[in-house]
Amino acid sequence: MKLTILGGGGFRVPLVYGALLTDHAEGRVTEVVLHDLDDSRLYAVARVLAEQRSTVADAPTVTATTDLDEALRGADFVFSAIRVGGLEGRANDERVALAEGVLGQETVGAGGIAYGLRTVPVAVDIARRVARLAPDAWVINFTNPAGLVTEAMSRHLGDRVIGICDSPVGLGRRIARVLGANPREAFIDYVGLNHLGWVRGLRVAGRDELPRLLADSDLLGSFEEGKLFGVDWLRSLGAIPNEYLHYYYFNRETVRAYQQAEKTRGAFLRDQQARFYEEMRRPDAAALTAWDRTRAEREATYMSENRETAGAGERDADDLSGGYEKVALALMRAIARDERTTLILNVRNQGALSVLDTDAVIEVPCLVDANGAHPVAVAPLPDHATGLVCAVKGVEREVLAAAESGSRASAVKAFALHPLVDSVNVARRLVEGYTAVHPGLAYLG
Ligand code: G6P
Ligand code: MN
Repeated sequence: MKLTILGGGGFRVPLVYGALLTDHAEGRVTEVVLHDLDDSRLYAVARVLAEQRSTVADAPTVTATTDLDEALRGADFVFSAIRVGGLEGRANDERVALAEGVLGQETVGAGGIAYGLRTVPVAVDIARRVARLAPDAWVINFTNPAGLVTEAMSRHLGDRVIGICDSPVGLGRRIARVLGANPREAFIDYVGLNHLGWVRGLRVAGRDELPRLLADSDLLGSFEEGKLFGVDWLRSLGAIPNEYLHYYYFNRETVRAYQQAEKTRGAFLRDQQARFYEEMRRPDAAALTAWDRTRAEREATYMSENRETAGAGERDADDLSGGYEKVALALMRAIARDERTTLILNVRNQGALSVLDTDAVIEVPCLVDANGAHPVAVAPLPDHATGLVCAVKGVEREVLAAAESGSRASAVKAFALHPLVDSVNVARRLVEGYTAVHPGLAYLG
């Protein structure tokens, strides 16, 4: 089985490859193709992978190429994990918004819109090529903003593209743990958009255990989301929000904190990773050691109070790096081997959340088998959550319209209609600011 990884020179690729190395079963991935635009990044990551596989007898082969069509031909699965504009782009997404006094963050608010505007045209081009060159392949989209990018690709690939995120499963795991339940046996009633969803229940053997958590202040205050949102607010909501909702519910405080931070998260990671790729230019460098050191440094920041991104608080050790690659592998196995399972994924709604149209990509528990991911019908959201979901889906649709037409007015509209952008004039200046720094937005005229 051939797996193609787009963004194959990315820093997290060794996590994916490491997970593949633990799979020895029939029907596993035997061939990995890395694709990236940047030769030196491919070279760096390929060196790490070569060291990872040196002790594993049945390790998947690895090849690397900068030719996209060649990478896609014959693929059974495609992991799309690109970052258009790199971490420099992410740092600019954050900086321009913060300078305007609005949230500058990788996927939420103005920063997420800017990231979406430059990523959608590239993702659409990939989707078109997959449809032509590997029509039977399954595309697993890691690329952020994941819900929006998955929807853009689904217009060309239908339900053969599935978006993933590690945050819902991490949240479900934390809730199960504080309740003393086995996360594997729990059904997590979660729904919304990517980075904009709520856990409304957690059922073990048919019984909802969430009310027990909401009733117990000690339990409720003991885990990441309890500390982040506060016991009283969680009780008022009657649900546990995804950590990214902190940016909505405590917007003013986060914006201020980010404005005062010495470096944005994107700038921190840009500098940190640049050192790794630089080190990899030395032919004698110990690749796996250098990568692992950089990874550990990055993960240590998740534990710090000052983490300049979602969930500014701590994450427990189990959640570190246990994310995307595990979800992706579980999904790939379920499809390739028809191993039925339930996963929270980004797929076309198909009536599961009735307030949105059937083509809108949402994040929802899905039954997965050889035929793909089938969203489970869920109870409606309360009005306040429906309002946010519909507003942000409306913004995503404007981003898609702008990417398709190249219309600057549509781009302004996308920013202006976002609940975290408080003036049309701010939206206009954001478009000015972003088009000035991002070559990937030149298409906006
Ligand atoms: C979580 C989110 C991802 C996001 C990442 C950022 O894992 O689910 O969508 O990209 O956090 O982490 P970073 O270390 O890059 O700030
Ligand atoms: Mn995510």
